[in-house]
Amino acid sequence: MKVIVRVGGSVVGSPLDASMINRYVTFLKDLKNQGHEVAAVVGGGSLAREFIKVAAGLCLDETRRDWAAIHVSRLFAQLFVLGLGDAGCGTVPTTLDEAQACMNRGKIVVMGGLRPGMTTDTVAALVGERVKADLLVKGSNVDGIYTKDPRKFSDAKKLDALKFEELANLFDEKQHKAGINQVIDPEAVRILAKIKLKTMVVDGYDTANLVFAVEGRRVGTVIT
Ligand code: UTP
Repeated sequence: MKVIVRVGGSVVGSPLDASMINRYVTFLKDLKNQGHEVAAVVGGGSLAREFIKVAAGLCLDETRRDWAAIHVSRLFAQLFVLGLGDAGCGTVPTTLDEAQACMNRGKIVVMGGLRPGMTTDTVAALVGERVKADLLVKGSNVDGIYTKDPRKFSDAKKLDALKFEELANLFDEKQHKAGINQVIDPEAVRILAKIKLKTMVVDGYDTANLVFAVEGRRVGTVIT
């Protein structure tokens, strides 16, 4: 199976957590050893947001602010690449072509941001589209998709399974309300819906949940 793993920057990098990164490195290697083709996309976490704030303080435009965050996510990705050693491709791909070439060499891809104006969710969806992935699993700081932001609303209900259209509607309804729980960004959802890539959102603090997702077990939220 071709698997895209979206590693929450919130999980491994807010603050940076060596043991968590190590667990992900082991998980990615295990996937490969089981015969899967693997690409991971790491988010920039709170450090990226801090850099965006500093860039704003320096009066840099949005594109340059985004570049600051992209570099942070790539730095995180580089730690994974170093941890993977020979199993990885040695560098962090900065284009979809490089990502695909790395995968074609039988190596584990780990990348961060691609270009300004998107999130790493969208990067993961674009990589999924490019390599014709079978599954995207996001290890998030929430254990699935809820009807509302579970950290703000105690009556938020977890959804075990939903269709991409339902997810898009969930965003639409809440678009103008504060505290929208965008566990996957809407642009990424649009791409995932177009290519019909099965997507799962699981609690990323325990990599066993990502293993369950790859095994096709019920965990987190599955979007089809
Ligand atoms: P992230 O995707 O890293 O943040 O993008 P996130 O969604 O909070 O993910 P986690 O929780 O850290 O995993 C942070 C910001 O970096 C810029 C955008 O401004 C984005 O909102 N960015 C990131 C880009 O402009 N392009 C990219 O390809 C990636």
